[in-house]
This record gives sequence, structure tokens and C-alpha cells, in this order.
Amino acid sequence: MKKVLITQMIPKEGIDLLKEHFEVILPVDEEKFDRESIERESKKVDAILTQLSDTIDETFIKSHTNIKIYSNYAVGYNNYDTSYGKKNGVIMTNTPDVLSDTTAELAISLLFATSRRLFEARSVIDNSEWKGFRPTFLLGQDISNKKIGIIGAGRIGQAFMQKLIGFNPEFYYFNRKRNLDIEEKFGAKYLSFDELIEQADIISIHVPLTEDTKYLFNEESFKKMKKNAILINTSRGPVIDEMAMIQALKNKEFWGAGLDVFENEPYISKELLELKNVVLTPHIGSATLETRRKMSILAAKNIIEVLYERKPITPIY
Ligand code: DGY
Repeated sequence: MKKVLITQMIPKEGIDLLKEHFEVILPVDEEKFDRESIERESKKVDAILTQLSDTIDETFIKSHTNIKIYSNYAVGYNNYDTSYGKKNGVIMTNTPDVLSDTTAELAISLLFATSRRLFEARSVIDNSEWKGFRPTFLLGQDISNKKIGIIGAGRIGQAFMQKLIGFNPEFYYFNRKRNLDIEEKFGAKYLSFDELIEQADIISIHVPLTEDTKYLFNEESFKKMKKNAILINTSRGPVIDEMAMIQALKNKEFWGAGLDVFENEPYISKELLELKNVVLTPHIGSATLETRRKMSILAAKNIIEVLYERKPITPIY
């Protein structure tokens, strides 16, 4: 019987599906295998279902030629060496589409929490500091009628745009390539990266992490942004130079940030934690019951297809 390794516990739907066909190796007492166990157990299996914290590099792939498919439980796959994989005909899959709405919803939650200072507001109540209604107290910013810039208008970026239509936005987008469908659908204007960050009141990042997007937001970018700008990141932490962002937020070069992802997860710097004009969540973009179930089913189905020598449903390349 073929064997599948799951490196970290996932919702049971996907596991049950795999168990109908294969022997499944799961972390038992703990929620995840450590790296050493993954290296060891991977030698015995035909497929592996990984998390974004599992680095699958050239060395790993070369020493596990028994593995027929790497199925990543995420839409992002910066933990995979896809260029080596592609060159060497290794099958790698991810979980796109099923999490687009959910991740866009979190981006919107962060946007509202940042613009209306919800966590600061709650802490005023928790600390018994509320002295009653005051006309100039805890003033935030409207979302309605704003210039909203999307960095990476792919599936998640477009879901974010779709959900904000009721707020009467003026949309800008920056992609590697111009996309006329987006322009027609959302009335969005294609801008260069610099034009977009100079003009937008709200900027939401939805690009994958690649060599090109690492530190896309850096010291110079923050200086170009509007003073009232709000930056939202639900993609990958290293798209932002975090230390430069902290400095810019301290200097009030822009208004605030809503962040679900960080440069060195799960570490978050003390300086970032101390800032008032940020809202932080611990990488929960796709974390809903419905979506995590769908991700587990899709990740499992990709394995089933490949181990039965059929095409994967969502190959990375
Ligand atoms: C993804 O899918 O890439 C998320 O970051 C993890 O759910």
C-alpha cells in the first residue's frame, strides 16, 4: 500500500480521504513532526503533505527521490524550490482558489480594525480609561470614497476588490502585467508601483514572495506613501522590510498598518508590538473552518490523483 506523510495535523476531511486509499503517517501526540522526523519519515513514503513552515529545497528533494508529489497546504509556495522541482520534473501542488474569499475577508477585517483603531479602542475600555464621549477622541479614517491600491491583483487581490465595491472606491492596481479584465470589471487603473504607493490612501498587498517581491516595500517606499495611507499585508512578511516599516510608522511617514504576516514568523519584534498604529494577527488569512476543510480536501485530492498516475488538480507549474 502506498504511503503518505502529513507533516502537521490538518482538518480530518483530507486525512479521511487519504486513508481510503493509502497508509497515512501522522504526527501522533504532537500537532507536528519536527524537521528530523520529517527527513526520516519522508524516506518511507510516496507523497508528502506539507505546511509553509516545511522547507522543501534542492537538498531535500534530492535525498527523497521516492516522493512522487509534494502537496503544499497553502496557496503560497515560497517554501518550495519550484525552479529545481520544475527542472527535474517533480510534481508540486498548492491550494489556490478555495481560500481567496477567506483571505480577502481577513484583509478587509485588518483594514477596518486599522482605520477605526478598534484594538486601541478596546484597550481604552479594558484599562478603564474611557471618560465618556468626546468629539476628538479616537478618530479614525473612513474607508468610503478612498483610493484603494492593490499590489498583486490576482485571485485574492480581486476578491478583496470585489468585496469593497460598496464603499465606492477608486481602484488602482499594480501587477507584473496589465490586465484589461480587471480594468473593465472594477474600473481599476493600472499604475507603476511608485505611482500607486504615491497616490493610494489604502494599499493591500497580495503578491507571492519571490526574489522580485522581497522587500518590495522598503525605506524609500514608505517615504513615498501618503501620510494618511493604510498598509495591509496578508501575503508574506518579507515583502516588507519590517525594520524600515517600524521606523516609518514611528516617524508617522504613513498612518497605520494591518499585518497578518511577518518577516521572521513566529517572531515579532518588540518595537512592532509597542506601536499603536498597527493591528497584528498571527498568520490567520485562511483560518476559517470552511476554508481549512476545503484546503485539506484539495491537498489530499492532489495526492490521490498523482499516486493513481493522473494529473494533479492544482499543479504549481
Ligand atoms: C497560504 O495559503 O499561502 C497561507 O498563507 C497559509 O494558509
